[in-house]
Amino acid sequence: MHAVGIVAAAGSGLRLGAELPKALVPLGGRPLVCWAVESLRAGGVEQVVVAVPASQQAAFTAVLPGDVHVVVGGDTRTASVRAALATAREHASDQERTAVLVHDAARPLTPPDVVARVLAALAGGARAVVPVLPVVDTTVVVDADGVVTADVPRAPLRRVQTPQGFERATLMAAYAHAHGTAAEFTDDASVVRAAGIPVQTVAGDERAAKITVAHDLRMAELQTERPR
Ligand code: C5P
Repeated sequence: MHAVGIVAAAGSGLRLGAELPKALVPLGGRPLVCWAVESLRAGGVEQVVVAVPASQQAAFTAVLPGDVHVVVGGDTRTASVRAALATAREHASDQERTAVLVHDAARPLTPPDVVARVLAALAGGARAVVPVLPVVDTTVVVDADGVVTADVPRAPLRRVQTPQGFERATLMAAYAHAHGTAAEFTDDASVVRAAGIPVQTVAGDERAAKITVAHDLRMAELQTERPR
């Protein structure tokens, strides 16, 4: 199965408090986006498209390998993936079933095994698949004053990571379906589910954690200092 990777890297990284866009922030001396591209490739992805902030196109092109396609992202993650998807469609061969794996640049230490598990599920016939982890904390609902109003049984809950994998035609159709709706999506599996398509799961990995705040970056730095 031909596999195309999309890396969403057009976020600002305000919560990280960095002056650079988050995906250009260095980890172990290399920008986060380079780690994410490398994970996808090591896991079996052949072609990679990266969505970047419009103002930073040159900076991204300078650090990414020459065969990575750079496109301008949008105001939301969904808009960024939509822009990259249009490019992925032009580049992919129509001869065989194509997988599209959408990955956050903010998950630099994702082990290639996670990528391979997602690809294997797609090769096995899944139309959409996400890596997940169990929820280990007690989970509650609070009201506007921060008072707990309900406990949420955690056994059926999962935290969803990336890369999220899709049969290309399924993802294209789901994005077309979502176009013009007011719904806000935080990932691609939600876009696909909104189109009524079932989403399967495979095991995620704690090392695929998303870097959001400065503490996350410090934890990732510690991991890169040790053998992985
Ligand atoms: O903001 P958050 O950490 O949830 O973003 C997840 C990923 O989506 C990041 O890798 C970020 O660069 C990307 N993103 C994007 N375009 C946006 C907003 C976020 O590609 N407009």
